[in-house]
Amino acid sequence: MDIRALQPSDIPHVQLANITNLPENYFCKYYLYHALSWPQLSYVAVDLSRSSGEPGEPPKIVGYVLAKMEEEPADGVQHGHITSLSVMRTHRRLGLAEKLMRQSQKAMVEAFGAKYVSLHVRVSNKAALHLYRDTLQFKVNKVEGRYYADGENAYSMRKDLTFLEEAESESEHDVGEKAEDVDIDGDVPKGEKKKRKSGMKKFKLGRALGVADLQEVDGRAA
Ligand code: ACO
Repeated sequence: MDIRALQPSDIPHVQLANITNLPENYFCKYYLYHALSWPQLSYVAVDLSRSSGEPGEPPKIVGYVLAKMEEEPADGVQHGHITSLSVMRTHRRLGLAEKLMRQSQKAMVEAFGAKYVSLHVRVSNKAALHLYRDTLQFKVNKVEGRYYADGENAYSMRKDLTFLEEAESESEHDVGEKAEDVDIDGDVPKGEKKKRKSGMKKFKLGRALGVADLQEVDGRAA
């Protein structure tokens, strides 16, 4: 099983998995919006054993996490959001959802300095609640009444990510003076330029790409 970043060519397969597993479905352009705006945050699980190796054969995508950064956070705190997560029935209880979630959370901190990650989940969704609350230590922030198109309530959940930031800065500290600083702030006025560690890059977010107004199809925003 391979967990790798979502590529635009995966979108039809991810869309199929989403339609198969969840009632909250999205237009193709909403997936593209995620893949182009925050390419580091969405992942797919690919079953390599199901591949015959034929050239041009589509990847056997058995799970995905679709995630983004909140562009205008109401609380002013930089944070990520899990738009959608699912794993095909044939591949559940193998730890794939947990791995997909952890990859995305790590990237939110490393690439965008996210302080926390949020999501919505149906109050009746026992499997997902086990994953979020018990395995990944999300906390219920509030209950949102009639959040879903069919009238079901959602738990709005959050997980603090500052512990990952601390772990990252500790490992950077270990590298210490050996890490070479790379100046990539070409658009910052002279004198205000910051130095960033190698490997950190600046990315254009959705609004800068002009696709921020795309909406989910199924009534409610993700
Ligand atoms: N009942 C109880 N616990 C469960 C269940 C279940 N049916 N399924 C998984 N778990 C537990 C596992 O035992 C594991 O717990 P552990 O850490 O104590 O061992 C934990 O959840 C993680 O298990 P994974 O194997 O990583 O989860 P899996 O790959 O099976 O995927 C998922 C879980 C995504 C919820 C899957 O059941 C699914 O796709 N369901 C349908 C779609 C869905 O509900 N998606 C979430 C919607 S919310 C959103 O998208 C933001």
